[in-house]
Amino acid sequence: MQVDQPLALLGGLSPAQFMKRYWHKKPLLIRQAIPGMQPLLERTELLDLAARDDVQSRLVIQQGAAAKRPWTLRHGPFARRSLPPFKKPGWTLLVQSVDLFDARVQALREQFRFVPDARLDDVMISYASDGAGVGPHFDSYDVFLLQAHGQRRWRIGRQKDLTLQDGMPLKILADFQPEQEFLLEAGDMLYLPPRYAHDGEAQGECMTYSIGFRAPDQVELAQSLLQGMAEQLADAMPRKRYRDPGQAAAAHPAQIPFDLQAFAQEALHTALRDPQLLARTLGEQLSEPPAAVWFAPQESAAGLRKGVCLDRGTRMLYDAQHVFINGESFTASGRDAQLVRQLADQHFLDARQCSRLSPGAADLLGQWLDSGWLQALE
Ligand code: SIN
Ligand code: CO
Repeated sequence: MQVDQPLALLGGLSPAQFMKRYWHKKPLLIRQAIPGMQPLLERTELLDLAARDDVQSRLVIQQGAAAKRPWTLRHGPFARRSLPPFKKPGWTLLVQSVDLFDARVQALREQFRFVPDARLDDVMISYASDGAGVGPHFDSYDVFLLQAHGQRRWRIGRQKDLTLQDGMPLKILADFQPEQEFLLEAGDMLYLPPRYAHDGEAQGECMTYSIGFRAPDQVELAQSLLQGMAEQLADAMPRKRYRDPGQAAAAHPAQIPFDLQAFAQEALHTALRDPQLLARTLGEQLSEPPAAVWFAPQESAAGLRKGVCLDRGTRMLYDAQHVFINGESFTASGRDAQLVRQLADQHFLDARQCSRLSPGAADLLGQWLDSGWLQALE
């Protein structure tokens, strides 16, 4: 990735400048980030996705503040006839992870790889009828809101009070204090850092693409890492049993010996001290493919001869010692490591690059092809 070249997508900033000045810090409005943008999916294609039971979708209907239930939220799948008519104002259909199901949206997502893959989450597409929105709220993650079709008026504010209204089926700020307002046209994009209050209202029907990110919560990360490491400990740690030849006669038999507590602490320290175990478990967990992904096994015969690319659902990452693909870890060295990391970074290896793999590494990539994790280049 060329991080010092100016990008139209970032309003002429280079990825390096954007990350330094705006990422995780302050909003940025980019007019014509994608000049002359046309929606990548027709409205009917989005509705077809929302009808599938392997795609997550939501319907938000806004009845207005005076109504008994100002907001209603329903979860998909949605048959076409169960959605309100397009002419009816005030409803939004939100379809999650469209990049997993559509090559054009996946290609859009690829343009945001100046942010590490471990942080990139998905591309959500919303269709909104006239006047619709999901109310004033904040998100916990960074987001790029790309206007794909029609117009949307965004109001944003950096308020500290993020109290939510009680009893609502979706997150609605109790006291929204907008400070800035922008009318976005097709091709315009608004970047918002986490916890920035925002409210978007469709002006006529519109479609918005949210390029969203993920950031692990430290407690959840500790829980999943400890659990993941526990499963690997038997192989990673030397076996040692508690010994107490110096134990004095117990005047207070119910009291836990201090040495036993220290032994337990040492056991945990030994486990956590192994940097490879921690790094391997983290990489395996970060590269887990989303639950909705299903890989179609395939014939690899011609695969490596033509070159390979990652399947849309595949997550591939690496660190200094390992390569991670779809929740599994591998070690590689020398030229193989260099080529496999290239596959992870550029998402493909051409025929010439494949021909430089060692027989062992070529065999491994052949297995990834068989599993449907890789696809043969056309
Ligand atoms: C939407 O597309 O309607 C909502 C996006 C957002 O506010 O995060
Ligand atoms: Co939002």
